[in-house]
Amino acid sequence: MPDTISTLVILGAGGDLAQRLLLPGVGQLLDVGDRGTGFTLIGVGQDPMTDAAWRERVTASFATGGATSAAALAVVANTRYLQADVTVAADLERVFAACTGTPALYFALPPRITIKACTALGSVTIPPGTVLALEKPFGTDQGSAHALNEQLARLVPEPQIHRVDHFLGKSTVLNLLGLRFANRIFERVWNRDDIEKVEIVFDEQLALEGRAGYYDAAGALVDMIQSHLLLVLALVAMEPPSSIDADDLRGSMAQALRATRVQGGDATSASRHARYAAGTVEGRSLPAYADEPGVDPARGTETLAEVTLAVENWRWAGVPFVLRSGKALADTRKEIIVTFKEVPHLPDGLTGREEPSRLRISLSPDEIALDLTMNGEGNPFELDRVTLGAVFGEGQLGPYGEVLAGILSADPTLSVRADVTEQCWRIVAPILEAWSSGSVLLEEYPAGSTGPDGWE
Ligand code: BG6
Repeated sequence: MPDTISTLVILGAGGDLAQRLLLPGVGQLLDVGDRGTGFTLIGVGQDPMTDAAWRERVTASFATGGATSAAALAVVANTRYLQADVTVAADLERVFAACTGTPALYFALPPRITIKACTALGSVTIPPGTVLALEKPFGTDQGSAHALNEQLARLVPEPQIHRVDHFLGKSTVLNLLGLRFANRIFERVWNRDDIEKVEIVFDEQLALEGRAGYYDAAGALVDMIQSHLLLVLALVAMEPPSSIDADDLRGSMAQALRATRVQGGDATSASRHARYAAGTVEGRSLPAYADEPGVDPARGTETLAEVTLAVENWRWAGVPFVLRSGKALADTRKEIIVTFKEVPHLPDGLTGREEPSRLRISLSPDEIALDLTMNGEGNPFELDRVTLGAVFGEGQLGPYGEVLAGILSADPTLSVRADVTEQCWRIVAPILEAWSSGSVLLEEYPAGSTGPDGWE
């Protein structure tokens, strides 16, 4: 295990990711106090900026995360900004020279610059224990993800590579561990004998929000399902790990993903995709996706994707896992829905609603609900639906605070392991191929609707 990190270097410090998500996450960590303290922050960017201007930016970003502690103020007082071209080895040497103790380099940069920077790192002496933190997407297919993983492995050992997926830092996603493994009642029914299907849904009202440059080349399948939702699937489907250390937890997740493929081996029948036409979301008029600035309509990029997967092992054989995510939809709906099988025999004489039990684990907000069929209030022999629900407080740290805590303590538990990135691309490859060959019609839905006609 590498040392704890003493210097956090944000490459791409002037960018949106650093300002909006990373720095507020650092501020939260410092406020919490017991994690991530005692380090120096260095911002690196291509544009000139004085230390004073950088400190102002850090202060403003810390404030959005609510950071007010003495530890946060101390980091602001000492933080520095370096102007550097991170694709040039000599500049990277300069960056390392400015660090004290073991550094973590966070690549808050577009993927193509990150890859160039990693190439330049190949001719630099990297201090022992250095952690490299990268954002998705990790490659654009299984082959390029493998090549990137090999390139990274030549720089530092795998445990020092933190592939960041902020879904692994969400308290709701992490709650799956406690829910599944700290309650005896679930494990016994968590299998094909008792579960009919599993759905993982991430529907957003947000639309493109000016991100055409990135999103038009990705689409809903790559942006959400290939990365975030497959990791959620892994946590739902995996075997109980012996511990939640990096090897055990990530080993169980990888094993589940290795068993996952498109249902029936037929991407054409197991997937659907659509993009939004002009419409209104919560009173906000939206143009059609194809008319958004920066979008190339001929690419046929989807803004709503649904795929049905199978986890081919003893536990899950025959249970469909439906993963769906879309933008500009009528409602925000972010949840895992586990639908149980119907009872083998309902005693004669009980009438009314006969729906199966469902466990709904919300991915946002922090809630959980168990829908049960029970005796109704009026006529006790007529069945009705009741919901047992719980609302949790949010975690102390937001998702970025949580993944940064892992980076600063050089603990890769919440980062995506090399083989997992490659498995995630393998799983979606037949779907991408079917869609690009035109064998699955690209449907349309008005922005602000629940999806195309005929979709559930
Ligand atoms: C990002 C996607 O990774 O996750 C976005 O690129 C998506 O398109 C976002 O909106 C959703 O995550 P959250 O948790 O920030 O709502």
